[in-house]
Amino acid sequence: MSMDKKLEQLAQEKEKVLAGGGAKRIAAHKEKGKLTARERIQLLLDEASFVEVDAFVKHRAVDFGMDQKEAPGEGVVVGYGTIDGRLVYVSSQDFTVLGGSLGEMHAKKICKVMDMAMQNGAPYIAINESSGARIQEGVDALAGYGDIFYRNTQASGYIPQISVIMGSCAGGAVYSPALTDFIFMTEGTSQMFITGPQVIKAVTGEDVTLEQLGGAAVHNQISGVAHFYATSEEETLAQVRRLLSFLPSNNLDESELVYAGDDVARQNDELLSIVPADPNRAYDVHEVIASIVDNGDFMEVQAAYAQNIVVGFARINGRSVGIVANQPKVLAGSLDINASDKASRFVRFCDAFNIPLVTLIDVPGYMPGVQQEYGGIIRHGAKMLYAYSEATVPKISVIIRKAYGGAYLAMCSKSLGADAVFAWPTAEIAVMGPEGAANIIFRDEIKDAEDPVAVRQAKIAEYREKFANPYVAAARGMVDDVINPRDTRRMISNALEANATKRVHRLAKKHGNFPV
Ligand code: HXC
Repeated sequence: MSMDKKLEQLAQEKEKVLAGGGAKRIAAHKEKGKLTARERIQLLLDEASFVEVDAFVKHRAVDFGMDQKEAPGEGVVVGYGTIDGRLVYVSSQDFTVLGGSLGEMHAKKICKVMDMAMQNGAPYIAINESSGARIQEGVDALAGYGDIFYRNTQASGYIPQISVIMGSCAGGAVYSPALTDFIFMTEGTSQMFITGPQVIKAVTGEDVTLEQLGGAAVHNQISGVAHFYATSEEETLAQVRRLLSFLPSNNLDESELVYAGDDVARQNDELLSIVPADPNRAYDVHEVIASIVDNGDFMEVQAAYAQNIVVGFARINGRSVGIVANQPKVLAGSLDINASDKASRFVRFCDAFNIPLVTLIDVPGYMPGVQQEYGGIIRHGAKMLYAYSEATVPKISVIIRKAYGGAYLAMCSKSLGADAVFAWPTAEIAVMGPEGAANIIFRDEIKDAEDPVAVRQAKIAEYREKFANPYVAAARGMVDDVINPRDTRRMISNALEANATKRVHRLAKKHGNFPV
């Protein structure tokens, strides 16, 4: 065969792969408001940076008519490219080919780029749109998922792994994302569930739509499975690019310094009025965060879930930081099961990837209640204690107002290894709030008093005067400094600078036993 003929054959083979599931299926796919697997990669990566790998891989299944079925590209596009000039590896499943189902060779393609990502210390981004294990391939498909889960776990804490859910994802197609660091979903067009509505109807008799079962709103607000929410696939992919700008490429790397021209010594005058003088009045901690970080630029993680705690990425003097902040506006900022899960996982991510932690504290305590106890607030709440104690990145804490009991400890207190603890003069650091404390320790005096209400108020005031301030803790060195709120940004930045070369040695062990 002449070279010309060979090149013609190559072009034809490539064309077949590029055609995916064919014009008809692609048109139906796009009609649902979705981009194709290849369009998603183009939008995610820097222009013309994508290099495809394994375009010609084919399945070798024969059962259930598979010997007659062509699956161009095996239903997944894989390769590498750059985002803001930095190397990333990517896979993008093609729903127009056998519903993006995962067979033996489809899995091998994904595993190949995951291995390359780990070897090169670069983030791995999986764009998922898959109906799960390819039923016709039986155990070969299941083993394919096993191979991916194994790699997700090996890569965890080594390179950032990001899952982008686009379209319906079922079965194994949701468990791999669950093993990764962050899940992005798109309103209206993306769903995640372990079994679809038909199976649910057959097993439990429940009638549910795809969106009600596992849409972006469900997983961002109710289940806490997803971390980011967008209204279009384009917006979702732009969010992925933004997230990566805060992260290093691997666990040995540091996030890039991005100076944005915001004066590090800028005074936070607005903080004097954002936080009300009355300790029982709420405020929005987002305003505090916006005042402190560079240009008010904050990328919130799990913004709609467990809103009593706020977590996310920002920069201070160009340095990436992970912010964890109680939100007094929701449940008075108390720590419940979901907030503990959300924050502790975020803390562990930041620690794994050398991102310093800035913790803003205004917490009345762990959330009391029968449902919380039955739900295991003890083991969930313990995650906060564990995650902060385990973290070796620089840990800077600012006590804004309430810091009570176990929740005070759990919000990165000095004893959990905070490198710098600053308290505003409004800080109240004690075992519990003055009302609760007075009820317990002055119970008899209040009960026996002629005017129990007046005595109770007096005892509350006495307790507040004595303990509900930052100076008792500062006298013991549990608070490094009591600061003017105006200086918060500058003080945090100084502390980050002073701890940038921090080295901590831990006991040699295989791994700890994190409470789950
Ligand atoms: C092979 C599949 C498939 C599968 C769908 N298809 N699921 N092929 N294996 N698992 C095929 C369909 O036959 C169809 O082919 C094409 O993909 C598109 O599917 P539709 O059903 O027409 O699409 P849609 O109406 O959009 O519904 C999407 C869906 C639904 C909700 C995902 O397909 C579905 O519920 N599929 C089953 C999902 C599931 O239960 N998977 C779990 C597998 S077990 P044609 O040729 O008609 O276009 C698993 C376990 C792994 O994953 C291990 C976990 C730990």
